[in-house]
Order: sequence, then C-alpha cells, then structure tokens
Amino acid sequence: MTGGPLVVLVGPMGSGKSTVGALLAERLGAPYRDTDADIVAAQGREISDIFVEDGEAHFRALERDAVRAAVAEHEGVLSLGGGAILDASTRELLTGLPVVYLSMDVDEAVRRVGLNTARPLLAVNPRRQWRELMEARRHLYTEVARVVVATDDRTPEEVAQAIFDAL
Ligand code: S3P
Repeated sequence: MTGGPLVVLVGPMGSGKSTVGALLAERLGAPYRDTDADIVAAQGREISDIFVEDGEAHFRALERDAVRAAVAEHEGVLSLGGGAILDASTRELLTGLPVVYLSMDVDEAVRRVGLNTARPLLAVNPRRQWRELMEARRHLYTEVARVVVATDDRTPEEVAQAIFDAL
C-alpha cells in the first residue's frame, strides 16, 4: 500500500498539465507521471493512432486502466489526459485525492492549441469545438477537483507556485 499521488492534475489539453506537473514535481522533489505517456508506452503507438484505429471508447478504457494503475502506484505528481474525467469509473478512482483543475477559457485555448491536428478532437473549427468541449466537461472537472487554478494569465511557473501554495 502506498500513500498515493501528492497531486493529480486535470484540465483541458493545452492547460499546461505536463509543463506545470514537471515543474511542480521538481519543486516537491517528487517523481512526475503522465497517464497519456503510460498509454503510449504500453501500446507502442501514438494516442492519435489509437483514436483512429480503435476509436475513442477503446482509448477511454485504456485510460481508465492507466489511471487505476497510476493512482495505486505513484507517489508523486500525476497528470491525466484532458478527457479522462469523461468516464464515470475514472472519476470514481479520483475520489478523495488531491485533484487540481487547471482551467482555461476558450479564447486562451484557441490561442494555445489552435489547429494542432495532433490533438484528434480538434480537427475542424477549433473555436466551436472548444466551446462545446468545455461546455460538456467543465462541470466534470469541477466535480473531481479539490482546487481550481485559472491558468489564463499565468506562466507555468506561476501556476506551479499557486498549486504549491494551495497544497
Ligand atoms: C484528450 C486529451 C489528450 C489525450 C487525448 C484525448 C481529450 O491529453 O488524452 O488526445 O479528450 O481531451 P492532453 O490533455 O494531455 O493533451
């Protein structure tokens, strides 16, 4: 039995989970782990290929298993993929954990992520898709989070500091 993650970062793609997570881990002298990276390593293929070849539902099942393993094993900073909170069983795995939601408004999301087609959910009309994505997900991020940190006007260092202060 381990002590579990020190902090779990959730939030939309581009909210800075990986950058902030790595900075925070360094600051805490703790390891960093990212469930997207765990899935890519285990599958030996990119996430965009898993979406295209097997569909989103299959990816969410792989993600649920990755979150279950990471939550059980990892004692440092953990980042989840932006859509992990869509799955009810995955949300359940986060109960009682120190979850931080990195929030970002739609304009900032379009500026940061824009037309990056490596992110499979934003292939066309990124502004409309961002709006719909955030409308569908915002309440789920809020539901699992203990702390919300707005990232819009902050550098990754400032976001890491805000989380550090909130812990
Ligand atoms: C997704 C976000 C991605 C990745 C996959 C799906 C999403 O993670 O898990 O492309 O549904 O928002 P990041 O948030 O780390 O980019």
